[in-house]
Amino acid sequence: MKSSRQSILVWDPVVRITHWAVAALVLWDLYEDSGGPLHRNLGYAAVCVVLVRVAWGVAGPGAGNFRAWLPDRSGVVAYLKAAVTGQAPRYLSHTPLGALMMLVLWALILALAATGWMSRLDMLWGEDWPKDIHGVLARLLLALVGLHIAAAILMSLVHKENLILSMVTGKKPAAPAAGSPSVGTGESPNPSAPPAGVDSADRSPGRRG
Ligand code: HEM
Ligand code: HEM
Repeated sequence: MKSSRQSILVWDPVVRITHWAVAALVLWDLYEDSGGPLHRNLGYAAVCVVLVRVAWGVAGPGAGNFRAWLPDRSGVVAYLKAAVTGQAPRYLSHTPLGALMMLVLWALILALAATGWMSRLDMLWGEDWPKDIHGVLARLLLALVGLHIAAAILMSLVHKENLILSMVTGKKPAAPAAGSPSVGTGESPNPSAPPAGVDSADRSPGRRG
């Protein structure tokens, strides 16, 4: 998937560092699931990183800002319809469906911290339901993380670009690959135009702003 195409910076360092920090903390917590002090601190640390990222989504620049990718219903439906016909357009920022997944993953992490905290409250002593919900949410998160990784690999193959490496370097090819199903759609209006930096992500069809 190595590409000679010209690349532009899409994901700034805050987006990349918070992504890999959240991923590491959550995977560690799913493994170290004793409910002990380490488990609890890792969970709260994940919440802090998510909150930093959400603040950056409001105040930060370019493709990481919510304006570039916050999904709406019509965007998700249109993307799903295109995807079932094998024509899922390429996006510089998150696709509408990917964006929905990002929001669900963050929400699950916050809900896990809330139920984890509740499971230790004196007020709820003897109650099993906070622990039960915590366990169910953790299993759901694990399943969705699996789906998230599979989708990142699949879309990398479909669009002939390494999305996982992009989350490391921050860079994506400026224009879609030749032969990718999305040439000329879901992209900057003129894919052959000189790279306009991350702002081009904001101008892609299907996004607000
Ligand atoms: C990223 C966030 C978190 C993840 C992915 C996570 C995941 C898990 C998992 C997989 C279990 C084992 C559940 C089972 O055996 O059915 C567990 C247990 C537990 N977690 Fe978390 N957790 C997170 C955050 C927290 C936080 C912030 C707290 C804070 C108080 C917490 C408190 C607990 C406790 C007390 C248990 C033991 C429950 C029991 O005794 O069965 N967790 N967690
Ligand atoms: C617990 C683990 C993980 C969680 C909770 C998670 C969550 C997220 C979230 C919330 C985003 C949005 C990033 C942002 O806008 O700040 C994202 C993006 C992304 N994640 Fe993860 N992630 C996890 C693990 C992974 C792993 C292991 C990989 C790769 C093997 C991966 C690949 C990606 C990619 C490629 C994107 C960007 C997708 C795009 O181009 O639209 N993630 N992830």
